[in-house]
Amino acid sequence: MNLIIQGDRVELHLFNENFITPDYLSWMLSPKVNKYLESKKEYTMNCISKYAQGLIDSDEDLFFAIVTDRHIGNIRLGPIYNTTAFVGILIGDVRYHGQGLAGGAVKLLIDFAFNIMMLQQLKLHVVADNVPAVKLWERNNFKAVSRIGKFIYMELCK
Ligand SMILES: CC(C)(COP(=O)(O)OP(=O)(O)OC[C@H]1O[C@@H](n2cnc3c(N)ncnc32)[C@H](O)[C@@H]1OP(=O)(O)O)[C@@H](O)C(=O)NCCC(=O)NCCS
Repeated sequence: MNLIIQGDRVELHLFNENFITPDYLSWMLSPKVNKYLESKKEYTMNCISKYAQGLIDSDEDLFFAIVTDRHIGNIRLGPIYNTTAFVGILIGDVRYHGQGLAGGAVKLLIDFAFNIMMLQQLKLHVVADNVPAVKLWERNNFKAVSRIGKFIYMELCK
């Protein structure tokens, strides 16, 4: 399937094998990007390839590349259970941080989730110290519902 969700400054392209590149690997190896990620930090081409292929093949996930003039990051809607889905985002190319592009991608994903997929609720958890991420979700109306250890659990209802 070739799905592209178009916004003003970013597009979401349904992920395919062409997005599995050395650039993607370099993002995952960057401490600025992987600092707050829960996955292990010893990424290889083989491991990102397996991860991405798993999401491409998954019936419970929609995994998108975030594209401007180039592929700058990824955003995930999933796992999806009934009308609830988890979300996650990464802007891997740090030259594109702090420009509101993550916000643009999140807005597109929320609109798609609620108005096309007809989901009712989005959920995530974020490390409380990850200030740009917490701000990003708050700015997009996610509300903190609990805090357990270093994580803030957030939800957004339609
Ligand atoms: C979280 C992340 C996606 C934000 O990307 P971004 O491109 O910087 O996001 P935006 O430019 O849309 O900014 C989001 C908010 O964070 C703020 N922000 C951005 N960089 C910041 C920084 N270094 N310090 C403090 N605030 C910052 C922005 O001002 C904005 O807040 P505002 O809307 O109140 O002004 C990006 O930092 C990232 O990919 N981090 C690594 C992976 C990760 O942690 N993902 C989140 C897991 S939940």
